[in-house]
Amino acid sequence: MTKPSLLFVCLGNICRSPLAEGAFRGAAKAAGLDADCDSCGTAAYHVGNPPDPRSIETAARHGVDIGSLQARQLCADDFKRFTQIFAMDHQNLANIEAVKPEGATAEISLLMDAVEGREGAAIADPYYDGEEHFQFTWDDVSAAAEALVIKLKSR
Ligand code: 4NP
Repeated sequence: MTKPSLLFVCLGNICRSPLAEGAFRGAAKAAGLDADCDSCGTAAYHVGNPPDPRSIETAARHGVDIGSLQARQLCADDFKRFTQIFAMDHQNLANIEAVKPEGATAEISLLMDAVEGREGAAIADPYYDGEEHFQFTWDDVSAAAEALVIKLKSR
């Protein structure tokens, strides 16, 4: 069976998707799941930058170090390299679909589609909000990470 490889995508790759990557890494490690994962942004504003300090702090509070991640932009190769691509919100989903190349093999969906009862929900952008919003983001991405790990473990 193909090893799962998951890509988490937001706009800037400094707030939501690094938290999703961190939550998934933590949940996969705890469950002994062998999977690859990465995160990126649909925009290039923050390429090369570490996650927002508020994201780093939030992940650290939950025992996950995301401080060495570096933002990058979604590229054509990602659509073949990853088995699943998860968008944080509807605008990112539309942006991903808009640059999807011919021959793309990755399944593309909203991240919250993985959580029973939250299908179709967006993960709100915490960038312009207060610190507590990063905890709300963590709650969402960790619910999705747990659900994905359970699904992938039972394949
Ligand atoms: P993210 O949040 O997409 O969750 O990383 C944002 C980060 C930066 C900006 C917007 C959203 N920005 O406009 O620079």
